[in-house]
Amino acid sequence: MTDQDLKPLFAAAAANLVYNAPLSEERVADLVRRLAPADADRRVLDLGCGSGELLRRLCRTHGVAGDGVEYDPAIAERARAAAPDLDQVTFHTADATTWTRPADVVVNVGGSHIWDGTAPALAALQRLTRAGGRLLFGEGFYRTAPTDQIREAFGDLPDLAGLARLATTAGFRPLHVAESTLAEWDDFESDWRAGIEQVGTPQARAFADRRREEYLGGYRGVLGFAWLILMPA
Ligand SMILES: C[S@@+](CC[C@H](N)C(=O)[O-])C[C@H]1O[C@@H](n2cnc3c(N)ncnc32)[C@H](O)[C@@H]1O
Repeated sequence: MTDQDLKPLFAAAAANLVYNAPLSEERVADLVRRLAPADADRRVLDLGCGSGELLRRLCRTHGVAGDGVEYDPAIAERARAAAPDLDQVTFHTADATTWTRPADVVVNVGGSHIWDGTAPALAALQRLTRAGGRLLFGEGFYRTAPTDQIREAFGDLPDLAGLARLATTAGFRPLHVAESTLAEWDDFESDWRAGIEQVGTPQARAFADRRREEYLGGYRGVLGFAWLILMPA
């Protein structure tokens, strides 16, 4: 299948998800509580915000204003349409690498590819996190040694200790380090494939079959997803 064939299938998968990451409601509530800004004048910034739900949750719960930055116009429009009444949240259709205004709570979940990898992403996000603020960084890592095939698919990721070290090298103090559970992964992968099943074509089914095999017979339990709350050092 060409990239052109795959694009609508990835879009169908994303459209079926609230969060495009292995993330349960319990973890959302925990992260939102941990990320409480010091006062209501603080600002939240989510780079690569996708549906914008995490940003909306943070802003609603803590009564603060926020910006979501999303490159894909259709996804940004969906984020805008989800809560038109929430006027303290603005969604920008833009390339996050062009954003220069720092914020007090910065979020980047599953979006290090925006800066071409973990280390450059952490360096860029450090510049955008105000002193005394927090960065929520959701990022992949290897829980166990990957096969060559898995490494080819997901790239050269660190282990969890290596990921925390990259954060300290970038000028952060890790305040909270956690990882998605296998149940969160299984739900995420199932919901992702369910979006593709809804397309219903033989091509879509073949793609869903391939992804299920790659997950269940390959990266399940090998690829991890970390949740780091980081404070500028
Ligand atoms: C894996 S998804 C994660 C979305 C969201 N953070 C979440 O957890 O649900 C990555 C998102 O980053 C967006 N993205 C990719 N490149 C971008 C860029 N240069 N600037 C802004 N957003 C970008 C994609 O369109 C996608 O919505």
